[in-house]
Amino acid sequence: MLEIRNLNVHYGVIHALKDISLTVNDGEIVTLIGANGAGKTTTLRTISGLKKVTSGEIILDGKQIEHLSAPQRVSMGLSQVPEGRRIFPEMSVFENLEMGAFLRTDKSEIRRDMEMVYDRFPILGDRKKQMAGTLSGGEQQMLAMGRALMSRPKILLMDEPSMGLAPLLVREIFDIIKSINEGGTTVLLVEQNASMALSIADRGYVIETGSIVLSGTGEELAKSSEVQKAYLGGE
Ligand SMILES: Nc1ncnc2c1ncn2[C@@H]1O[C@H](COP(=O)(O)OP(=O)(O)OP(=O)(O)O)[C@@H](O)[C@H]1O
Ligand SMILES: [Mg+2]
Repeated sequence: MLEIRNLNVHYGVIHALKDISLTVNDGEIVTLIGANGAGKTTTLRTISGLKKVTSGEIILDGKQIEHLSAPQRVSMGLSQVPEGRRIFPEMSVFENLEMGAFLRTDKSEIRRDMEMVYDRFPILGDRKKQMAGTLSGGEQQMLAMGRALMSRPKILLMDEPSMGLAPLLVREIFDIIKSINEGGTTVLLVEQNASMALSIADRGYVIETGSIVLSGTGEELAKSSEVQKAYLGGE
């Protein structure tokens, strides 16, 4: 579904992504784990078209997309839940969800998808008219996920959805990601919470200072001594 080949990305003289290659197959949850500043967000922003590539290819559904704009990529079925949620705080829950469908014109289908989002996140249905900035952190994460789903993505890119949430809520968010995936949406999940991410992922990649240093199934990575030492607090 998504393939990245030899991607290089710079911020001025900083070489943020160094020859990164990765694949996400249809129906998978793939996780990209790594420490602060490793290049996780840059990877997602480059895939979604918010950051330009220096060189390399991004292939979505067999088509090269690295030259396309971010909205064009959304139309092709790619959607991102950004780091820090980035909801529109002064708009209502309902209006935030509408924004997620801004490229669509199929009004009755949009209404149906909104009902689906309210089914998946009942709290959002209860708070339709509430200003989004007044939601709790967990509710804002759910809204950011709901908004991303409103574009009917084939693949959802998620940047640290568990960040800043209480442990119980983290569990809930990961359960929701799993169930979104079971509903047919492919997921590329960026996380610092390696143990949770690996527990729901089919496969994963480890990124260190802009390079992929390890890859494997979720289970293999969770067992690997390098991952345990660096990311799971093991010895
Ligand atoms: N706008 C920017 N301008 C200059 N350098 C940047 C910019 N954004 C990121 N970088 C640099 O690129 C590298 C990768 O950053 P990135 O945000 O992708 O890491 P990350 O893995 O998402 O980190 P975190 O876990 O803290 O979110 C870092 O060295 C960072 O300082
Ligand atoms: Mg980041």
